[in-house]
Amino acid sequence: MTVLGVVGAGTMGAGIAQLGAAAGMRTLLHDPIPEALERGAERVRSGLAEWVEKGRVGADAATWLEPVSSLDELAPCELVIEAAPERAELKRDLFGALSLACGDDVVLATNTSSIPVTSLASAAARPENVVGMHFFNPPPLMPLLEVIRADQSTDRVVERATEVGKAMGKHVIIAADGPGFLVNRCGRPFSGEGLRLLQERVATHEQIDRICRLGGGFRMGPFELMDLVGIDVGFEVAKSFNELSFGEPRWRPSPIQARMAAAGRLGRKSGRGYYEYGEDGSYRPTDPNPPSPADTEAIAVALLGEGPLPDALRERARSAGYELRAGGPVELVVDAGPQPHASPPGGAPLIVLCAARSLAARGEQGAVGFHLLPPLDDAKLVELTRLHITQQFACEAAERFFVSLGFVTEWVEDAPGLVLGRVVSQLVNEAAFAIGEGVGSADDVDTGLTLGLSHPRGPVAWSDAIGLEHVLAVLDGLWHELHEERYRAAPLLRRAAALGRSLRA
Ligand SMILES: NC(=O)c1ccc[n+]([C@@H]2O[C@H](COP(=O)([O-])OP(=O)(O)OC[C@H]3O[C@@H](n4cnc5c(N)ncnc54)[C@H](O)[C@@H]3O)[C@@H](O)[C@H]2O)c1
Repeated sequence: MTVLGVVGAGTMGAGIAQLGAAAGMRTLLHDPIPEALERGAERVRSGLAEWVEKGRVGADAATWLEPVSSLDELAPCELVIEAAPERAELKRDLFGALSLACGDDVVLATNTSSIPVTSLASAAARPENVVGMHFFNPPPLMPLLEVIRADQSTDRVVERATEVGKAMGKHVIIAADGPGFLVNRCGRPFSGEGLRLLQERVATHEQIDRICRLGGGFRMGPFELMDLVGIDVGFEVAKSFNELSFGEPRWRPSPIQARMAAAGRLGRKSGRGYYEYGEDGSYRPTDPNPPSPADTEAIAVALLGEGPLPDALRERARSAGYELRAGGPVELVVDAGPQPHASPPGGAPLIVLCAARSLAARGEQGAVGFHLLPPLDDAKLVELTRLHITQQFACEAAERFFVSLGFVTEWVEDAPGLVLGRVVSQLVNEAAFAIGEGVGSADDVDTGLTLGLSHPRGPVAWSDAIGLEHVLAVLDGLWHELHEERYRAAPLLRRAAALGRSLRA
């Protein structure tokens, strides 16, 4: 039988102790503040009582819980998970004290979300016995556990932490130590690229959120998510990434975050962040339903390009009743390939995918730009863009076309990838950097982002659906037009695209 210690009986500690007791481990819960210990133990008991009622655990589950008032009482533990406040010095002191209180073989785990596990391990008497166990909030409900291997961790402690996590019913992924470990690191571009799009005024925060929800199937857009987490909290995390990476351009904090935090617009908790929150918590209108695909007149369309998106669009257009022609006279031309078509037929309104180039950089006078990502079954929204010279009839033709295919449309400003293409390409790019640097496996990245951050699909699965050529086109387009290092493609991504392989291979 495993004897588990949990230190810190707050939100995370109480949740972790509930998991231990539910798994039938003798669970010793400690907090130096007596009221906090009592409150935490009560939360564990009521959480377990709910699970007893649902038949998830036996009626005796709560008997496995033992609140203890001193660290010395943790002596019999084989594994201690620390969930004390997120302060490096406090945690380092704790690791020193736990090394004295417990036996030589004890595995010491930290639930830190941002402090390098390697630096905490060096404060323990036996650094090789230290590991990260990063649970997600609330631990009893979130299905994921990220086990973090510090530079000093032995295989034995990583395996032990993994076994205990599995016994608690978690999907366990393994990550190397580093800024944000695997999940928070790979999830960073969601808010990071959102903030850049807002700063460049490609779209408003409401539009960016709507595009991510309807176009990408995300449960929430980046700005409503940042409001939920707390803008001050997000800003601190961004600063910590910046510091730990010595200024990696992809992870630079945004001046918008700094201003919002300085103004006290902290998000939901202060009643105002990017959105204003009503008394009932309301802050935005409900999303429009996509139009039903219409029975269209059989007009002739040239749908150009190779790859998953042009293929999927051709299928959708055919079933909506369009007559697809490779050449000859047509009434509409849609260039949907990741790279611009060399000579699209003239004489009809032209709609072009903004991937490798922005609409302005493509130089087709009068064309309408669009962007969307396959798989189309999950995409309900198409982004459109125009230049000041684009004629109204071309804009109307573009809207009519996409509405007839069953999409909501959203007009944004011009950029390679528009909004969703930029956000998702940077998610894929970050995943490729992390996999290439050995932070975690491709499967663990996808499991981490779907189970830990509720993304609709992992970045590797996104890249398989979109095609690496499309992802790389957007990144190189941004690199080319903005000359910023944050848009450099990960070496693994470029290599995989050149070899025609998946990031998984
Ligand atoms: N809340 C989250 O969403 C979340 C998610 C993942 C990881 N984490 C990490 O989990 C840890 C705990 O976070 P939380 O949200 O549960 O915080 P919390 O403030 O709810 O709980 C912290 C507890 O630690 C106790 N404590 C204070 N000083 C202590 C000491 N010297 N030794 C032991 N315990 C002490 C406090 O009394 C309190 O009960 C942090 O490292 C945090 O970064 C939090």
